[in-house]
Amino acid sequence: MKIGLSYDLKEKIAPGQSVPEDAFEEYDSPETVAGLTAAIEAQGHSVVRLGGGREFLVNILHESVDFVFNIAEGRGTYRSREAQVPSVLEMLNIPYSGADPQCLAICLDKPLTKKLVALAGVATPKEQVITDIKQLKALKPDALPLPAFIKPIHEGSSMGVRLGSRVETPAQAAEVAARLLEHYRQPVMAEEFIAGDEVTVGLVGNPPQVLGIMRILPKQKMPYFAYSLEVKRDWENLVEYECPARLDARILDKISDSSFKAFEVLGCRDFARVDFRLGADGTPYFLEINPLAGLNPKSSDLVIMARKMGWTYEALISTILDAALARYQRANQSSHRL
Ligand SMILES: Nc1ncnc2c1ncn2[C@@H]1O[C@H](COP(=O)(O)OP(=O)(O)OP(=O)(O)O)[C@@H](O)[C@H]1O
Ligand SMILES: [Mg+2]
Repeated sequence: MKIGLSYDLKEKIAPGQSVPEDAFEEYDSPETVAGLTAAIEAQGHSVVRLGGGREFLVNILHESVDFVFNIAEGRGTYRSREAQVPSVLEMLNIPYSGADPQCLAICLDKPLTKKLVALAGVATPKEQVITDIKQLKALKPDALPLPAFIKPIHEGSSMGVRLGSRVETPAQAAEVAARLLEHYRQPVMAEEFIAGDEVTVGLVGNPPQVLGIMRILPKQKMPYFAYSLEVKRDWENLVEYECPARLDARILDKISDSSFKAFEVLGCRDFARVDFRLGADGTPYFLEINPLAGLNPKSSDLVIMARKMGWTYEALISTILDAALARYQRANQSSHRL
């Protein structure tokens, strides 16, 4: 098959550009594009690099590809940015890998995502959404679930998330929230801080199978741990990845069950990564889901997890690709939904 690859590459922030220093954190590196190209070609396909944004629009109209492997994060800071490329592909009736626009748009909205997974019976931390400084000032002190973790509501790749995002007092919460409101120009959420283990779950296939459950442990003892931007950028020195996670079978079952429920209620497809923190009693609290989980051959959590579970990068990519292709085959043969 002739497979198009849609992606957005990280850009250098020009001096004087008024964007946060992590503005392009979600975008991909040339290493990811090269890795995916090689992995897809190893399956006997040819790959056309479509890029993202306007370049993607031009290329998709001129290249007649049979299918698109999509990792494009979308342009701008819009909360539905990840839905941009899949929407164009649906308009042109070109099949593609991964979740559809509706799922991608929902999952970039953390409070909305949490409402849906809660309806499916999954535990999530309490939260208070703060839309502007006025509302923040008017909040009653007991409206905040302290200690809290403050983060922008429409970001990924830990944009706006630092170790200092954990706050203990209303005054600290106000300070961090005000800074985020100003820099990220979107509402923020103050979420109950869940102090237990950090766990991420990889799901592949339709219906999904658990690829792995990975615990992320700080290498050094610290008063509290957050898998924040500083930590993700220096992951080789700061964290240990334990996969399979050495947790109680009862807790592992609960984590798998909550992951399946989240994948299903949100309408994910082909692959996803779900982040949890464990409560004191072992309850997995859902933080967020990544229907477009990173696929960097070296540093992405899903890939690290796959490697630890004995999968090669090629096997992971071909499993995602095959799951997507099989969806279209089923849909063509019957009245199955994609
Ligand atoms: N309520 C919370 N309690 C404890 N830690 C939290 C909480 N919310 C976020 N964190 C910490 O911050 C990290 C990043 O938060 P989250 O997963 O919501 O952000 P993200 O930017 O969407 O992440 P990703 O890089 O996976 O896309 C979490 O992995 C966790 O370590
Ligand atoms: Mg996360």
